[in-house]
Amino acid sequence: MHLLILHGPNLNLLGQREPDVYGHHTLADVQVGLDTLANELGVGLAHFQSNGEGTLIDRIHRASVDGVDGIVFNPGGYTHTSVALRDALAGVAIPFVEVHLSNVHAREPFRRESLLAPVSVGQVAGFGVLSYSLGLRALVTWLRERSG
Ligand code: DQA
Repeated sequence: MHLLILHGPNLNLLGQREPDVYGHHTLADVQVGLDTLANELGVGLAHFQSNGEGTLIDRIHRASVDGVDGIVFNPGGYTHTSVALRDALAGVAIPFVEVHLSNVHAREPFRRESLLAPVSVGQVAGFGVLSYSLGLRALVTWLRERSG
């Protein structure tokens, strides 16, 4: 099983960006932690971050060509704005879990709406970097149940 860990805008700044909200772990820390978990779960991971909407869309299209089985996606601010990313995910029909470090429902009202969540398998938010691990575990379990 091959999965893609996808990060949207400003997540390259993880560790230095608003640490009271997003914590002190860097994106490299997240990657190392997820690679360890992926080993335990027996799945392969690719990691990708971009600040550009079009670049993220192109990566999602490529995931489809490459036969990626699922995506763990933190879309950052595009969560709340991007019809184009939603269309890309719906278009390739790759199952994905939306993850957020912060609890987007407990912050500014504009963060409560996700344009992507309605086409996702589900959403994990508010657990810091643990949101990614929970999202990965959930997606692998979900995919295995469906294929078994
Ligand atoms: C975020 C939440 C978004 O609202 C915000 O724009 C981000 C990070 C999170 O992981 O908590 O960039 O996706």
